[in-house]
Amino acid sequence: MSRLVQAEITDCRERIPGVWVMEFLAPSLAQAAMPGQFLHIRCGEGSDPLLRRPISIHAVDRQTGRVKIMFQVVGKGTSRLAGRKNGLIDIMGPLGHGFTIFTGERAKHGNVDTSSTQNDSAVVMNTPANFIVVGGGIGAAPLYFLLQEMARMGRVRRVKLLLGARRADQLLIFDAAEELGFSIRVATDDGSVGRRGPVTDLLAEELRREAGYVYACGPSPMLRALCARLHDAGVPGEVSLEERMACGVGACLSCVCRVKDAGGLETYRHACVDGPVFPAGEVVW
Ligand SMILES: Cc1cc2nc3c(=O)[nH]c(=O)nc-3n(C[C@H](O)[C@H](O)[C@H](O)COP(=O)(O)OP(=O)(O)OC[C@H]3O[C@@H](n4cnc5c(N)ncnc54)[C@H](O)[C@@H]3O)c2cc1C
Ligand code: FES
Repeated sequence: MSRLVQAEITDCRERIPGVWVMEFLAPSLAQAAMPGQFLHIRCGEGSDPLLRRPISIHAVDRQTGRVKIMFQVVGKGTSRLAGRKNGLIDIMGPLGHGFTIFTGERAKHGNVDTSSTQNDSAVVMNTPANFIVVGGGIGAAPLYFLLQEMARMGRVRRVKLLLGARRADQLLIFDAAEELGFSIRVATDDGSVGRRGPVTDLLAEELRREAGYVYACGPSPMLRALCARLHDAGVPGEVSLEERMACGVGACLSCVCRVKDAGGLETYRHACVDGPVFPAGEVVW
């Protein structure tokens, strides 16, 4: 399958101030996409900005071929993207390794079956009994696609969703996740909804109650604290990193991040091809 897609924009609207959701029609991409993977998007109609911008896949409807991205406007690329209301958009993807999807006794990592011997970094695990999904701020965007997949697999009752935001009005994916039937706990910095404080405090409570495999995406300080909690509790999980990217395909080194290899030695990986999702215990902060 070609990874270059000219997709027709079908909708683009502001969800909360500064955060937009764009929907486009891309049937082949919808079929191939896995939760945690990202798209490298030409944001403007011409060549400005020159570099594509990486945005995670937020939601997929495989039957209609519709794909959604959710993005925060922070600079030139994302503001150009928010201005695109119709026409064709130039997308490269799906790219990267996404979240491990456990199917029966086997785990599927991104679009690579980890039970295959071709992936030498693969760790084959039995399917965990419970899952905890932790999202902070715009980091909740890719987690909705993961929840869609969990719901499709009939795992709603085995998942606890923990969402963190600065304030109540900045909470993302709550309604959509509730509609899918997930049990949700919320933490906000100002206490305007849910528990006051970081979402990692909720995680600590959950881990004391019942351990589960953890999936997380959010700002680096949150992921760093989360990885420390998982390490202390001896609980496995994985985190999606947001490194700056240029090429998106492993050719330019702009996204390198430090990880530990199987022997515990520090080494470097490309977030764009080896990630953006990494086992929590491998990331060097
Ligand atoms: C794999 C991956 C998936 C992502 N998914 C999403 C998503 O689903 N939704 C979303 O809103 N954003 C996502 N991002 C971040 C997004 O790519 C950046 O916000 C975007 O590239 C900024 O482009 P810009 O031209 O608007 O801003 P720029 O002008 O390039 O930068 C504006 C500001 O944002 C900061 N910034 C830019 N890129 C990043 C980055 N990767 N990480 C942290 N800070 C950055 C810059 O340092 C600067 O302060 C993702 C990033 C990666 C690597
Ligand atoms: S973005 Fe170029 S190597 Fe990853």
